Amino acid sequence: MAAGCWQLLSLLFILCEICSSLPVERHEKQQDDDDVKCGYQSCHATKPAMLNVHLVPHTHDDVGWLKTVDQYFYGDRNDIQHAGVQYILDSVVEQLLKNPDRRFIYVETAFFYRWWRRQSADVRQTVKRLVNQGRLEFVNGGWCMSDEAATHYSAVLDQMTMGLRFLNQTFGPCARPRVAWHIDPFGHAREHASMFAQMGYDGFFFGRVDYQDRYRRMRAKEQELLWRASDSLSPPMADLFTGILPNGYNPPEGFCWDQSCDDPPIKDDPDLEDYNVDDVVERFLNVANAQSLVYKSNHIIMTMGSDFQYENANLWYKNLDKLIRYVNARQSNGSRVNVLYSTPSCYLQELHRSNLTWALKTDDFFPYADDAHDFWTGYFSSRPALKRYERLSNSNLQTCNQLEVLGGRASTSGPFGEGDSLTLKRAMAVAQHHDAVSGTEKQHVANDYARRLADGWQRCQVVVSNSLAALSGSTAERVYCDSLNVSVCPITESSQRFSVNVFNPLARPVAWPVRLPVNGTAYSVSDADGRSVDCEVVSVSRATRDVRRNRGFAVNELLFRARAPALGFSTYSVSLLQDGPPPASVRSRAPKSIWNKYLRVTFDPETGLLSGLDNLETKQSISLTQNFYWYNASDGNNSKSKQPSGAYIFRPNSSTPFVISTTAETETIQTSVMQEVRQQFAPWASQVVRLHTDSRVLELEWTVGPIPIHDDLGKEVITRLDTDVESSGIFYTDSNGREVLQRKKDFRPTWNLKQSEPIAGNYYPINSRAFIKDDKDQLTVVTDRSQGGGSIHNGSLEIMLHRRLLYDDVRGVAEALNETSDLFPDGLVARGRLLLSLERPAIAADVHRPLAEEAVLQPLLTFTEGDLHPNTRLEFSGLQAALPPAVHLLTLSQWDDDSVLLRLEHQFQSWESKINSEPVTLDLQKLFSTLEVVGVSELNLSANQWKEEMKRFHWTSQTVEKPQKKTFKEDPSAWEVTLHPMEIRTFLLRASFR
Ligand SMILES: *[C@@H]1O[C@H](CO)[C@@H](O)[C@H](O)[C@H]1NC(C)=O
Ligand SMILES: *[C@@H]1O[C@H](CO)[C@@H](O)[C@H](O)[C@H]1NC(C)=O
Ligand SMILES: [Zn+2]
Repeated sequence: MAAGCWQLLSLLFILCEICSSLPVERHEKQQDDDDVKCGYQSCHATKPAMLNVHLVPHTHDDVGWLKTVDQYFYGDRNDIQHAGVQYILDSVVEQLLKNPDRRFIYVETAFFYRWWRRQSADVRQTVKRLVNQGRLEFVNGGWCMSDEAATHYSAVLDQMTMGLRFLNQTFGPCARPRVAWHIDPFGHAREHASMFAQMGYDGFFFGRVDYQDRYRRMRAKEQELLWRASDSLSPPMADLFTGILPNGYNPPEGFCWDQSCDDPPIKDDPDLEDYNVDDVVERFLNVANAQSLVYKSNHIIMTMGSDFQYENANLWYKNLDKLIRYVNARQSNGSRVNVLYSTPSCYLQELHRSNLTWALKTDDFFPYADDAHDFWTGYFSSRPALKRYERLSNSNLQTCNQLEVLGGRASTSGPFGEGDSLTLKRAMAVAQHHDAVSGTEKQHVANDYARRLADGWQRCQVVVSNSLAALSGSTAERVYCDSLNVSVCPITESSQRFSVNVFNPLARPVAWPVRLPVNGTAYSVSDADGRSVDCEVVSVSRATRDVRRNRGFAVNELLFRARAPALGFSTYSVSLLQDGPPPASVRSRAPKSIWNKYLRVTFDPETGLLSGLDNLETKQSISLTQNFYWYNASDGNNSKSKQPSGAYIFRPNSSTPFVISTTAETETIQTSVMQEVRQQFAPWASQVVRLHTDSRVLELEWTVGPIPIHDDLGKEVITRLDTDVESSGIFYTDSNGREVLQRKKDFRPTWNLKQSEPIAGNYYPINSRAFIKDDKDQLTVVTDRSQGGGSIHNGSLEIMLHRRLLYDDVRGVAEALNETSDLFPDGLVARGRLLLSLERPAIAADVHRPLAEEAVLQPLLTFTEGDLHPNTRLEFSGLQAALPPAVHLLTLSQWDDDSVLLRLEHQFQSWESKINSEPVTLDLQKLFSTLEVVGVSELNLSANQWKEEMKRFHWTSQTVEKPQKKTFKEDPSAWEVTLHPMEIRTFLLRASFR
């Protein structure tokens, strides 16, 4: 009965709270906007001698997945999934106003921005007040929550910058997120942690981690750790406190009070049936105490929300208010549990105050498995065409950004009309989402991402045309050919005379193999100085004719090597000399070898397959057999587990892949500019082995699809390179296109792996490169998109190119990954390139770093019909001089009317190169040829905070660390900046045209 009396007391207490809440509200409205108390200052008090449970109300809003981003925003197509972000934000704001203790975090700026545009001045004022009081807190704050396995750092930086810029512009410093929040991505890249550290975040939280890793960490209380995310940047530059959330990102079982959940509400009227306060409180105390056993401090966090929750926020908050009240009321009876509304940053602040030391981690969180046969390694390769399109769109966007700056105001409004880079920026930002470039969305959503990129590129083409008109002085119309990879370009196919402008977005000159569809048999090509350029005409391959279908009719391809200056263009003129039948010079048998002055590639004359690769300059020689195979995708009908292969999960039925063909039909073409052996393995699998004259790189252009499924077998197609390199089970992959990590077969650096999937459990993301090496030889493969791969046998490297699957893998997407389109109803064809180099390990990075740089930012070709006006400027460089090979011009983008965002990057790791892993100093005033830099301010990596104001929590590792010898070089002067290995520096420049 004592309990009854106590309940009565607390009821009175509630009534009092309700009567006092109205004046509080009125008082608040009178508050001046200057009354700002946000961030760490706005956290609720905790109780040092108790277990403090931080309840974090949140919603996880995918920027496209089962529905498109706009369908999710409006709550359209609720027949697919009930979800409407606009209602979530409406409802949360209303509910936050009802009780000043309540908190909410919001993550995806793509949605917040959509909502904000539609709000009245009143609502905006109210929301600003909530932000300034820390009641509504932004976490992460990028445009989306990016995927970590298939993204490239350049696009991740852009999308974070865009989201954070919107928050800063709209709300000022109170909206600067202190915490990075990747609760859903399926595996975590070290480079993401490194970037977040350099963006000024104090901590990072996520939900998904390998189940074996989690169990060990729970026992060792190492679910919270210090991640040292770079081996080149001096600590603590890339150190990031990292927390693994207790329950993914869901509430503890039994405590979900969203309208989408079925858990019982708190029924606290003792006069009514089913009064359950004691039961709820008991259950909660049990959950809290159990959770505290696997974490280190007297603070724990609970994520109170999930996918698209809080559409009717009243349900959640009404029950959370009661939960807090009733659980804390037990303290007067001796309970040592204190519950509070909180946010990830308030939780983080308490961990920081606790002065504990944390386990140090230096590897990454790939691959992710949630059970013995459930490795999320399929999405590393899912939707290869979308992955390539996304990567190419990044190149186009960087070019568009650069030309917008170099062309001045005329770029966005000029002879070709109004253009903008913003549409493509937004489309690229949306495409970084963890169900976008990852390939784990429904087909109609994948189509929507691609359409956005295409629309963005249309808008950017106007910018590029205007800018090139300003820089060249020619307003002749420019034509874009986006299907050159399948030899489609109407202007080159039909014109007698045309010119090609080759724009190079890199800060050093490049030579680029140009390949244009034509119908003549002889052409003359001359460069910007009028000198004749060596060129050749070859026939269009059967594989190309098959993949282009009805989109073009060229019978030949014109080949020449174009050179373009640093951050600039060069123009080539092409004239038809002769019409007629296609050239001969095709030999049908594979030669024993093809070679240039750097490389010799040998073939097995019996099979037509590659058999060896020599570097003639360094006198290296390896055996190299390469072929194409497919794994039979598990259909789930298996005694060990019912898990099928799908968009997320890779689960082959057998560890031995089927060979597509043991022999290849071959055709050889040898010309003065390149030699190639065309290999056909099956009607749906072919490759061109290509060696350009003057190149130390071997190109493998693969074409795979439509993958046949008439046998009712899902297929995961790989290519495998088998060599005699003594790699001892070790290979290397890049992290988001930047630092390289070592991978070891059946091994994880931080726990004793029990390997249960010999293939899928050894797959890792390859964003831009992978290599194997021994003391003498390093074979590096540079890719043109993100792919998955592994080294299953010594000396072997395999890369998954394309997947066509017949079953859903039960992770929510509810579709089989079986891509078709109007043009390819029989199944999508994917084409791409692998670039191979064979070098001494000590100098390999000097080759693969610039090579990957060229693969990521490739020249843009534009075409003009007929002769150019004689006054046209044919060559231009935006730089006074090429930058040193160690330096990458990462960002050059118009920021506002009179400032420009510049990112300079040192693209070598500290141990990689004898010559390039040294600090480099550049003078910002001597960078550009047409821009005079008159002011400079340095920013954090995401450009939302001035560098000098950047102050991060300091964390202590439990590992005793040897003091590092610092080789830090200061900037010599205000204009001269020094870049250390792997350092990126971000500047806002005030610049005017010279
Ligand atoms: C952490 O250390 C600071 C300074 O040494 C001290 O003031 C504070 O009480 C410590 N906090 C805890 C939780 O031990
Ligand atoms: C943040 O936005 C404010 C205006 O809200 C602006 O004055 C400030 O310069 C911005 N900070 C940065 C780092 O861009
Ligand atoms: Zn998600």
